[in-house]
Amino acid sequence: MRNIVLLISGGGSNMAAVVAAAQREDWPATLGARIAGVISNRADAGGLAVARQAGLVTATIDHKNYTEREAFDTALAQQIAQWDERADLPALVLLAGFMRIVSPAFVAQHQGRLLNIHPSLLPAFPGLHTHQRAIDAGCRFAGATVHEVSAELDHGPILGQVVVPVLPGDTAALLAARVLTQEHLLYPRVVKAFLRRPIG
Ligand code: GRF
Repeated sequence: MRNIVLLISGGGSNMAAVVAAAQREDWPATLGARIAGVISNRADAGGLAVARQAGLVTATIDHKNYTEREAFDTALAQQIAQWDERADLPALVLLAGFMRIVSPAFVAQHQGRLLNIHPSLLPAFPGLHTHQRAIDAGCRFAGATVHEVSAELDHGPILGQVVVPVLPGDTAALLAARVLTQEHLLYPRVVKAFLRRPIG
């Protein structure tokens, strides 16, 4: 079985959407995978309780306990690897509202099996405050992207996107809510397609 591990920092609604779709449709098992657990860098992340309610194992690795980013990432990688059933089949790692920049070493270690969801139509608006920036730029459309994580923040091969309209009078909050609803459909769809790919 190939593990899927989700990394969160907050409410974890994308994580919950992936877990719910996986449980409802049972696709991890049919594609030789299982959702192994959820890791948060914050003990107070609301998503941890949601994950436990869904029957998942959780772990907290608090970034504040580490002075160096690399040491935090090493602890993260160790937790992910600890759940692996087979060393030759390392986990698919999904960043889902994970608000830490991962180090180049972590990216290299998980290359090709580390995905992120970003609330913009990349390559437009990498980084933070994407919805306000899209409104300020006069965009008529916004959206979200699932991409492979590369060394450069919010770059890497695009695996899937979803588009929503920017409506007259939109605020960042209104647009974010419209995009988030679609993120919840996009992420499970992309993960499922990713697992269908041959490994290696
Ligand atoms: C989402 O828009 C996600 O794309 C971004 O953080 C937001 C919150 O996600 N990275 P979640 O509810 O914690 O999944």
